[in-house]
Amino acid sequence: MALRLARRRSATQTAEAASAPAPGSHRNHMKRNELRAIGPDPLRPEARLRWRDHFTLSENVLHVPGMHQEHDGLCIAHLSDIHVGQATSAVRIRRAVAEVNARNPDLVFLTGDYVTHSPKPLPRVIELLSGFSSPVFVVLGNHDHWVDAHYLRSGFERLGYTVLQNEHRVLHMRGAPVAVLGIDDGRTGRDDVERTFRGAPESGTRLVLTHAPPTIDKLPPNSNLVQFSGHTHGGQFVVRGLTEAIFRRAGQPYIQGHYHVRGNQLYVNMGLGFGFGGPYLRRGTYPEVAFFTLRHAEAASAHS
Ligand SMILES: [Fe+2]
Repeated sequence: MALRLARRRSATQTAEAASAPAPGSHRNHMKRNELRAIGPDPLRPEARLRWRDHFTLSENVLHVPGMHQEHDGLCIAHLSDIHVGQATSAVRIRRAVAEVNARNPDLVFLTGDYVTHSPKPLPRVIELLSGFSSPVFVVLGNHDHWVDAHYLRSGFERLGYTVLQNEHRVLHMRGAPVAVLGIDDGRTGRDDVERTFRGAPESGTRLVLTHAPPTIDKLPPNSNLVQFSGHTHGGQFVVRGLTEAIFRRAGQPYIQGHYHVRGNQLYVNMGLGFGFGGPYLRRGTYPEVAFFTLRHAEAASAHS
């Protein structure tokens, strides 16, 4: 199996505690965070957190054939669909940023939809997401384009984050190149794969960010690419048998979690925003912060 949903832990637990064996590893055992903060919480010390401030951590081991051996053990944090505004608690977002920083990942990926319909929360987006201490790569989502993509791009760039709209960057990490390819939003028809890949390395460690999962179908097949996406909120309100059919009909066959697609891999984040009350109820999905540990794997073992 190329990816294992290793464990899900309370966001109030430390990174050290999270490295201990977990009692359950299946998605069905996933639990929401503890209601009471354990130990010092810089935001609400000793306070009872509200239900809307909670989120789920997912920890995933991702076996990537063709990846540079030097990148074995590389750690990535992935947030998506934060939808800053009334429907998402600011405390939840701040706690998510703090949890990412506590784990000191090599890279942070943000895959779009920072706002919903109103331009009002735009300054709050930049304020709330300003604290990451690792290098951050950003792509935009459909709602960002509908509200104000230019504002968000320039705001993130002021923070020193790299915003990718059908472009790529090659980083040198641990003595080997990592290509980060950011494809613009496919939901609004802006995903230009050819332009994104033009001049990029054709092998080695290549990580793709794009908001809408179906863009995976446009990637070059059998290329050992890993795509990180969001957009679906894991189905938002899941009714078994019905939600999947509705999403498929809407051209969204990839709803949540890990997929193999034509020799590439895809992870669909459930998104940090919405949920736990308000007009955007969740059922069967949870606000998510995902962590990945990349493991070097031979191509032959990728489909075992
Ligand atoms: Fe979206």
